[in-house]
Amino acid sequence: MAFPHSVRLVEVGPRDGLQNEPEPISTATKLELIDRLGAAGIRHIEAASFVSPKWVPQMADHREVITGLTHRPGVVYSALTPNLKGLEAALECGVEEVAVFGAASEAFSQKNINCSIAESLQRFEPVLERAKAANVRVRGYVSCVLGCPYEGEIEPTKVADVSKALYEMGCYEVSLGDTIGTGTPLKAKRMIEAVSRDIPIEKLAAHFHDTYGQALANLYAVLEEGIAVIDSSVAGLGGCPYAKGASGNVASEDVVYLLDGLRIETGIDLDELAGTGTWITQAIGRPNRSKVGVALAAK
Ligand code: HMG
Ligand code: MG
Repeated sequence: MAFPHSVRLVEVGPRDGLQNEPEPISTATKLELIDRLGAAGIRHIEAASFVSPKWVPQMADHREVITGLTHRPGVVYSALTPNLKGLEAALECGVEEVAVFGAASEAFSQKNINCSIAESLQRFEPVLERAKAANVRVRGYVSCVLGCPYEGEIEPTKVADVSKALYEMGCYEVSLGDTIGTGTPLKAKRMIEAVSRDIPIEKLAAHFHDTYGQALANLYAVLEEGIAVIDSSVAGLGGCPYAKGASGNVASEDVVYLLDGLRIETGIDLDELAGTGTWITQAIGRPNRSKVGVALAAK
């Protein structure tokens, strides 16, 4: 299959990138990050997470972040909502899009959201109904699609089953998370082939973490399969609190550089994005994990 003509990047840095930071990051810094990402041309930004502050303290200011946003025209700002409580709070703040997050691994589901896969799907049903009634779009995540920190190998059919359930429930898009970044290109292709038997490929997104340095190779492989939505995090920030050792998402700057080279449109200004990566890593005292970001900053 030919590469897509254009790719939509979903920037998850303000949520996935920051959620695991141990030191509190000010709401003002988060808002500046979100605004700079919008200024660089990103059209979908995952801004916050309406989860329990006991589970993820860094996301405790979700209300302040969502209500404090300066909305740029054409930019979608979304938030994670694991249950009705989270959704109601997000709706009160005027959120326009939310995401539910499940897993293809039973053990990870328990550790991450404290319930089984089947229970999580039951919990998401009323979230989708309520969101639909409020005219709010819902994205669905599936974690551990290429491996689990507790169970090891995950069968592509398991990923396909959970993805299908989320899609049939009404998720407009299903984002496939290699939470611990253990995937390799052929495995990624096989997984996408299995999931896209039930769901049109244009409704799928790749959410790859770079723990083993394979994320760009895996993305190249799934672009060949027709994937045209990619989740990434500026400066490669991040990690999941319930997946020990998992490093950040693939760096947005690296993805844009790859896509520019393949002549695939993103609408993103790479220099401005790289400047944002330099700024946020300095602001929170983290190394910049984008190779492209580091190279451009050294010029
Ligand atoms: P629980 O303990 O089973 O829930 O947690 P509960 O309903 O029994 O409630 C317990 C307490 O949490 C109560 O407070 C609730 O009010 C409160 P208390 O009475 O003890 O003071 N609570 C909430 N507070 C705020 N917002 C809420 C909420 N719900 C309940 N929405 C729960 C279940 C899902 C809440 C919990 O397990 C949780 O918050 N988990 C979040 C885990 C998380 O955020 N993980 C990281 C995101 S997922 C990820 O990174 C993967 C992804 O990037 C894709 C990939 O890479 O694979 C998406
Ligand atoms: Mg993630």
